[in-house]
Amino acid sequence: MKKNLVFLGPPGSGKGTQAVKLAQKLNIAHLSTGDILRNAVKEGTRLGKEAERYMKNGELVPDHLLIDLIESKVASSELNDGFILDGFPRTVPQAKNLKEMFDKNGVSLEAAILFQVADNEVVKRLSGRWFCPKCQATYNYPTNVPRREGVCDHDGAELQRRPDDEESVVRNRLEVYKKQTQPIEDFYREESVLTEIKAEGSPEEVFQALLREIG
Ligand code: AP5
Repeated sequence: MKKNLVFLGPPGSGKGTQAVKLAQKLNIAHLSTGDILRNAVKEGTRLGKEAERYMKNGELVPDHLLIDLIESKVASSELNDGFILDGFPRTVPQAKNLKEMFDKNGVSLEAAILFQVADNEVVKRLSGRWFCPKCQATYNYPTNVPRREGVCDHDGAELQRRPDDEESVVRNRLEVYKKQTQPIEDFYREESVLTEIKAEGSPEEVFQALLREIG
């Protein structure tokens, strides 16, 4: 089974949902650059202060900040038993840098999984997304509702919405994805590691398709 993975796909394509399930099943690391950046914003670190103004408008945070962040993870032992990079790389320079880091550290990328979802489905999903600020669990109205309205099933915290899930920001994130991230698909196609998954079925159906693809 392939265990060194990159997850690609537009906002709301289900990368995070699938990464959590797969990381649990295979007991491998799940590294979400979006989660790392949101934590940095919450904690008011230098990275967070720098990143916040890009994130709230749905723009990408500058490459050098992300590359430094990932480089330290690749060099550590954190990824030794397998990993899912969720949300990185997001530009061709990030993808090229990642390849160099992997080569330097003797790591091989086994698959870049591309989750395919239409724009209108993205807008629908993200306008219904709520998350738990404590444990990061994600919910969705109407497809994955919490047992008690507005409250996390796991720890009872009050659910919140992400500021970048406002529709105008989502539309910009989709444009940014098409311009800056989609060219990575060709990069990974040429590396012979790209695998596409139609990600519009239920989360469980998508998960089964994912398991088939990684063997
Ligand atoms: P990030 O947090 O990575 O956002 P994103 O890629 O836009 O992805 P999302 O988290 O919105 O969606 P997802 O695909 O994970 O879907 P999810 O599973 O949550 O990044 C945020 C920002 O950080 C970026 O805009 C950028 O500013 C910055 N950033 C991050 N990485 C960067 C990088 N490398 N370089 C530069 N900047 C960077 O699902 C979404 C919703 O749909 C949920 O409610 C879920 O319950 C529901 N859902 C999931 N699957 C299904 C399904 N099959 N059917 C129905 N509903 C579903």
